[in-house]
Order: sequence, then structure tokens, then C-alpha cells
Amino acid sequence: MLFQNQVVVITGAGRGIGAAAAKLFAQHGASVVVNDLDAKPAEAVVAEIESAEGAAVAVPGSVTEDGFPENLLDAAVDRFGKLNVLVNNAGFTWDGMLHKMTDEQWRAVLEIHTMAPFRMIRAAAKHLREPAKAELAAGEPFSENRCIINVSSTSGLHGNVGQANYATAKMGVIGLTKTVAKEWGRFGVRCNAVAFGFIDTRMTRAKEDGESIEVAEHEIAQGIPEAARGRAITGNPLGRSGTDEEAAGGIVIMASTLAGYVTGHTLEVTGGAGI
Ligand SMILES: NC(=O)c1ccc[n+]([C@@H]2O[C@H](COP(=O)([O-])OP(=O)(O)OC[C@H]3O[C@@H](n4cnc5c(N)ncnc54)[C@H](O)[C@@H]3O)[C@@H](O)[C@H]2O)c1
Repeated sequence: MLFQNQVVVITGAGRGIGAAAAKLFAQHGASVVVNDLDAKPAEAVVAEIESAEGAAVAVPGSVTEDGFPENLLDAAVDRFGKLNVLVNNAGFTWDGMLHKMTDEQWRAVLEIHTMAPFRMIRAAAKHLREPAKAELAAGEPFSENRCIINVSSTSGLHGNVGQANYATAKMGVIGLTKTVAKEWGRFGVRCNAVAFGFIDTRMTRAKEDGESIEVAEHEIAQGIPEAARGRAITGNPLGRSGTDEEAAGGIVIMASTLAGYVTGHTLEVTGGAGI
């Protein structure tokens, strides 16, 4: 029970890594706020947590919408009383070779993977930085685990063919992570990134399966062309893809006080890819 009496907000938690993280946090005693663009899968995750005697609430909506980050965090605090952990996980890919990539493709991917986490963290200042600052001013010890996890990728660390936009964004979020670690460290607020390799979710399944996400009236195909998946899956020392539960484990470890003296770090959950 690493998160007894703690409140965790996870964006994009209706499916994939975010959903697995929501369930794992709940298993460890957290009250979980499950955000996703899609209400139905978010509500299904909440129902699953509740059927296992956990506490959760769905707050659907887009993290890229003006004012939504503030509304999401206010809803979390209204329901559960405080905020301990913010996980910036929501995302999608909009791949294309650089010489053909449009400005819209570039902006949409930078917006979801860098602008949205920035806005979420700025909105979280009220709930993480301010109470800690008050405790510091009163000469009291910090009373809570307070931290932020930003989800990054091996594409950000190493670059990736067809992902100029995504690689730039996922490296950008590491700079954001280190800056927050430096600005809020004196208030006891930790900020870490978790960079995933090939995790088996909608984002990495065969493009031919036909999964897609609707963004700004575009139906954007998710997944990787079947021909390109083989080497990506096995190109790491463990020789396989990771599960969403294994990915969630990386997030939960870094958010817990077991990592209480770790901040500004990027944990690679990649089966050893890129070493
Ligand atoms: N799967 C991988 O191999 C892999 C590797 C590296 C990084 N990542 C990152 O992990 C995170 C989770 O991805 P996943 O693999 O679980 O993909 P996924 O498609 O299964 O889940 C992503 C979720 O984010 C939601 N989402 C998208 N845009 C949103 C928005 N504007 N507001 C709220 N929710 C939104 C989607 O509806 C979806 O449920 C992403 O940031 C992704 O870039 C994944």
C-alpha cells in the first residue's frame, strides 16, 4: 500500500499505459482520477477499480482544451480533497517523414506532448507547490508525497524515423521535467520522467488493425506498419515488447516515496533498448 490516503491524477488513463497505471495506483491504496478524451473507456477503468474496492472518478475531456487542466485538478481536489501525484500520460502519434510533415501535424503533437504537460503542471502549482510553500514558511516538515511524472519515449532519447514531431516533443518534456525538479525541489515536490520503449498498446499495434484517434476533425491512424514492428519489438536485450502493467510499474515506482530522493531523472522502461 504505497499510496494509502494519496490522490493521483492520470491523464489519458482510459486505455493502455494510463489505464494500467490507474489500476496499479488504486491497488496500492490511492484514490485515482481517471482522465481521458474518451468518456466510456475512462468510466470502464473507474468501474473496474471500484469493483476491486478501490476509489476512483472519471473526469473526461481534452487536456489540450483551454482551461481544462485547471478544471481537471479542481475536480480532483473537490472529490478527494487534495493532490499528491500528477501523471502526464495522455498522448497520440501523428507520424510522417519529415520532408512531408505538415505544420499542423507538428503543432498537434507538440501541443499534446509538451504544451499540455506544461499547462497541467502550471495548474498543479496551486495544489502541490503552494501547500508545500506554506509548510516551509511555517517551519513544518512536508506533510505529503508530492510529485509529477511526465511520460517520455525512446523516440525522444534517440530520435525515430517518421517521428520528428514526437521525438522533439518527448525530448522537450525531459527538459520540462528537469526544470520543474529544479524550481520546485526546495518545496519537496519531485518531478521525474519515464521513457518507454516498445509497450504493447494501441499506439504500437499493427497500423493495419485500423485503430485511430480523432483530433481537430482528423481521423489519425495509430499504430506502426506491420513490416516495421518486428525489429522494433525485438531490438532490445529482453527481446520482447513490454506490457502495459510493466510500463505502469515504472510510473508507480517513481511516484512512490521509495523514490523519495529521486528527482529530475528519466527512468528508461525499455527492456534495455538503446544501451
Ligand atoms: N506504447 C508505447 O510503446 C509508448 C512508448 C513510449 C511512450 N509512450 C507514451 O505513453 C503514453 C500513453 O500511451 P499508450 O501507449 O498507452 O497509448 P494509448 O493510445 O493506448 O493511450 C493513450 C490515451 O491518451 C488519450 N488521449 C489522447 N489525447 C488526449 C487528450 N487530448 N486529452 C485526454 N486524453 C487524451 C487517448 O484517448 C488514449 O486513451 C503516451 O504519452 C505515449 O506517447 C508509449
